[in-house]
Amino acid sequence: MLIAGNWKMFKGPDATGEFCRALREQELPAGVDVAVCPPYVSLAVAVRELAGTEIAVCAQNVHWEAEGAFTGEISAPMLRELGVYGAIVGHSERRQYFGETDETVARRVTAALEAGLWVIACVGETEAEREAGETDAVLRRQVSVLEAHEQLVVAYEPVWAIGTGKTATPELAQGAHETIKELLDVPVLYGGSVKPDNAAELLGQPAVDGALVGGASLEVASLAAICRAAA
Ligand code: PGA
Repeated sequence: MLIAGNWKMFKGPDATGEFCRALREQELPAGVDVAVCPPYVSLAVAVRELAGTEIAVCAQNVHWEAEGAFTGEISAPMLRELGVYGAIVGHSERRQYFGETDETVARRVTAALEAGLWVIACVGETEAEREAGETDAVLRRQVSVLEAHEQLVVAYEPVWAIGTGKTATPELAQGAHETIKELLDVPVLYGGSVKPDNAAELLGQPAVDGALVGGASLEVASLAAICRAAA
């Protein structure tokens, strides 16, 4: 079971340091892997403050080249040098606002895995795609560019459930996770408005291997509560 907190564009270095020091003090349940994914500028602080704990620090994106003329990008070897453990790739916000495509997702995932990072690759349908009955086809298309790898995890995040308070029902999540697992033999996290009060039910589904948590990962108490629900 993995609980990963995607902080999005929240928490600079000061707030990250404070959060990580408080997280260290929490009694987190055994058997639950925990990761935090701060913005790039806060990664070094998180790595330093969480050193010596089992809590992993991951980035929210990673470029496919090791270096080069790619203004504004960060490479996998750079993240490795910093002591970062993994990276999220293909989050729906990157697909929606920053031109991420299945092809660029595949390139980022391959490069990150080759550099030794763990990867949380995100997939999921939009509300319009779900209403048009295209969920299955969208998931198949998004997963088709990925190859199973022991350091790859997929996150199923229905776009209509992200930051909206609308959560997939446990049955709907279970169905989508089964579809993904038929295509790719990797752990699958659920993401989309996971909160302390709905986590146990979602994480209780047999094909749900953890959660990618946005809003509710920004408070130590709610992240810890979700970890306890996972146990
Ligand atoms: P949310 O975000 O938990 O705030 O819905 C999840 C995500 O975008 O990873």
